[in-house]
Amino acid sequence: MQSTPNLDQFIPEPLTKLTYQGFQEGKKIFSFVHKSVSDRLTNTVVPEQASKSQPLSPEVLEKLQVKLKALEEKDWQDAQQGVYPSSLLFDNSWSDFFRYYPEVWLDLVKIWQRIQKKEYQSFDAAIDKVGYPDYYLQNFHHQTDGYLSDMSANLYDLQVEILFSGAADAMRRRILVPLKQGLEAFSDIPPQKLRVLDVACGTGRTLRMLRGALPKASLFGTDLSPAYLRKANQLLSEISSELPQLVQANAEKLPYLDNYFHGLSSVFLFHELPGVARQNVINEAFRVLQPGGVLIICDSMQAIDSPDFQVMMNNFPAIFHEPYYRDYTRDNLEERLKTAGFTNIKLENHFVSKYWTAYKPQA
Ligand SMILES: C[S@@+](CC[C@H](N)C(=O)[O-])C[C@H]1O[C@@H](n2cnc3c(N)ncnc32)[C@H](O)[C@@H]1O
Repeated sequence: MQSTPNLDQFIPEPLTKLTYQGFQEGKKIFSFVHKSVSDRLTNTVVPEQASKSQPLSPEVLEKLQVKLKALEEKDWQDAQQGVYPSSLLFDNSWSDFFRYYPEVWLDLVKIWQRIQKKEYQSFDAAIDKVGYPDYYLQNFHHQTDGYLSDMSANLYDLQVEILFSGAADAMRRRILVPLKQGLEAFSDIPPQKLRVLDVACGTGRTLRMLRGALPKASLFGTDLSPAYLRKANQLLSEISSELPQLVQANAEKLPYLDNYFHGLSSVFLFHELPGVARQNVINEAFRVLQPGGVLIICDSMQAIDSPDFQVMMNNFPAIFHEPYYRDYTRDNLEERLKTAGFTNIKLENHFVSKYWTAYKPQA
């Protein structure tokens, strides 16, 4: 990856691990300070916002720390096992960080204004809203212009990184072990012929991870947002290997032939869909996968996984605008996968995320 040189070649292993831990610790501290200051400011300017959430108990905070440490250890171990290069652990767009971090603060003022006016579907007049499903035309996370502006795309990665205390990429990377295991069923075909699609690829973070883990595969990404695809194209062009093919498409109606892909991933999409759309996306995933192909979904933990974290799951849609999250946390995606025809379904949890691995049966 061009933006982060491969550190494995230059630094002995114990030092790399320390560097990784230090890097994650730095992101954690940065996120904590950012969130503390911005929460205080928000609660001062929009006092009703403070009453929408419950504080987390010291026990829950402690459990979160333990889960975060376990995630980082797994991330490190998977890199050591060769699932992906260690350089991915440090993959970060520093130029974007320095360029757009001040904008995160400036955008907060617009967010306060919309929260005060209870505006949740507000878009700049110049934005073309034709052709998108109604459920999509939302200021998710109170984002200015939702997913439909270049500035939103420029700020998104930074905001997600802060939200997850620097662990967003470590959670995305957890799709790579089950995906690579699933793709072993196609070991008889040349790696260049493996086709892997990331559904709702956003700014391309998961595609960067996929490129690291599958350097030769043909990668594809779809998303509804032209602005996010533009950003993905920019960030993926920094990598010196083949550029993934990016297409604007609704995940409910993918523009691909039946039985086309060997593997599919989708990260942090399902909590932003109503139930019917969730089922449609799963059905489409089934249609475009080859028999024997593998689907990995990564999204938020659900109510059934972590009763201890229920307060957190209540707080999230109350503070951020996430109209489908509550329904998502109670949805049985395993049942939906079975309804579409998937079998051999496995579940995993890492930190605050959940993963479904499912196979399309051999014909
Ligand atoms: C929370 S972001 C996740 C983006 C990316 N996968 C990641 O890991 O950061 C949700 C993404 O889903 C896209 N999206 C939402 N509904 C969609 C739909 N019906 N079809 C395609 N993309 C959709 C949005 O444009 C946005 O890029």
